[in-house]
Amino acid sequence: MKKFIFACILLLHAFCSFSQPVAGGKSKGKVDSQSFIVPGAEWKDTDGNPINAHGGGILYHKGTYYWYGEHKGDSTYWNPKVPSWECYRTEAGGVSCYSSKDLKSWKFEGIVLKPNLTDSLSDLHPSNVLERPKVIYNEKTKKFVMWLHVDSHDYAKAAAGVAVSDSPAGEFKYQGSIRPNNAMSRDMTLFKDEDGKAYHVYSSEHNKTLYISLLTDDYLQPTGTFTRNFIDKSREAPAVFKRKGKYYILSSGCTGWDPNQAEYAVADSMLGQWTVKGNPCSGKDAEFTFYGQSTHVLPIAGKRDAYIAMFDKWNKKDLINSRYIWLPVKFTDNAELDIAWQEKWNIDN
Ligand code: GAL
Repeated sequence: MKKFIFACILLLHAFCSFSQPVAGGKSKGKVDSQSFIVPGAEWKDTDGNPINAHGGGILYHKGTYYWYGEHKGDSTYWNPKVPSWECYRTEAGGVSCYSSKDLKSWKFEGIVLKPNLTDSLSDLHPSNVLERPKVIYNEKTKKFVMWLHVDSHDYAKAAAGVAVSDSPAGEFKYQGSIRPNNAMSRDMTLFKDEDGKAYHVYSSEHNKTLYISLLTDDYLQPTGTFTRNFIDKSREAPAVFKRKGKYYILSSGCTGWDPNQAEYAVADSMLGQWTVKGNPCSGKDAEFTFYGQSTHVLPIAGKRDAYIAMFDKWNKKDLINSRYIWLPVKFTDNAELDIAWQEKWNIDN
C-alpha cells in the first residue's frame, strides 16, 4: 500500500511539472526542465516581469544564450505625421538583453544599449525608432557587434546603427548610423557564416528589395560588396540560417504591424542566387504566419538539426504587450522547411 501511495505521489508530481508552461506560467523563474514553450502566451523573466525584447535575435556564446531585443515603452500612440499607414509607435527604450542556459528561463541583464534621453537629435532618443537589434561576436577583434534599424519618428531616415561591446551583456557603445551602400535600410538581420564572414541583410529601396551586404572583417562597416534580392517583392523581417551547406532566408511581406504570409528562399551561398520556395508555415493560421512576423532562426547548440523559428506577435495598439511565437523548424527529405503550429511544445524533446 505504501508503495502504491508513493507511486501516486510521484505520478502527481510528474504531472504537475509537465503541465507547467514556460510562457504564460505564473512561476517566478523556477521553470521545470519538462516545461513547454507556449507560442503567443505571456512569457516572464526570472524576476517575474514580462520579457521586453521585441524584434530580437539570440547570440550563443560560451554556453549561454543572450536574447537582445527592442525594449518598448509602456504607452503606444499613433503618429499622425505618417498618414499613409497605421504608424503606431512607442518610446524607444534602447536594447534589452536576457540570458539563459536552457532557452526557457531568462534572466534580465539590463538595457545593454541605453537610450539617449537628452539629445533629441540622437538616433537613440526615445522619440526616434530603434528596431530589430542583432548581435554577433567577432573572433578577431574579440568584440560583440550589434547592428540595428534606426529611424526618425516618421521612418524617413531609414538607416542602420552599429554598437560595440567587450562583453555580451554590455554595455554597448554606439558608433553612429549609416545608409549602407548608400541605400535605405530598415528591417534587418545579421548572419555570421562558419568562415567568419558576416552579412547585413536589410530591406532597402522603400522596403521593396532585400540587400545582402558583406561586412568588413571587424563587422563594423559594409565592404561595398552586396546583392539585390527579391527585387520589388517587398520582403521584410529577414531571418537567416544555414543547414547542411545551404542558406535559408525566412521573411515576411510588408504590411506594417499587421500579419501576412511568410516566405522562405534557399541559396548555395549568401551572395548567390536565391530560389523562392513558398510559405514554410503549416497548420492553424499558417497563411498569416500564426499572426506573427519572423525575427530570427536559432540553431540549438549541441543538438543536431534543431532550430527554433522566432516570430513577434505584434499588438499594434499596445506594442509593449506584443508576444513571442517560438516554433521548431522541421526539414523534409528534400531540405524543405516546415514550421508547424503547435499550441505548446517541449524544447527538450
Ligand atoms: C513592420 C516591421 C517592424 C516595424 C513595423 C512598423 O513591417 O517589420 O519591424 O517596423 O513594420 O509598422
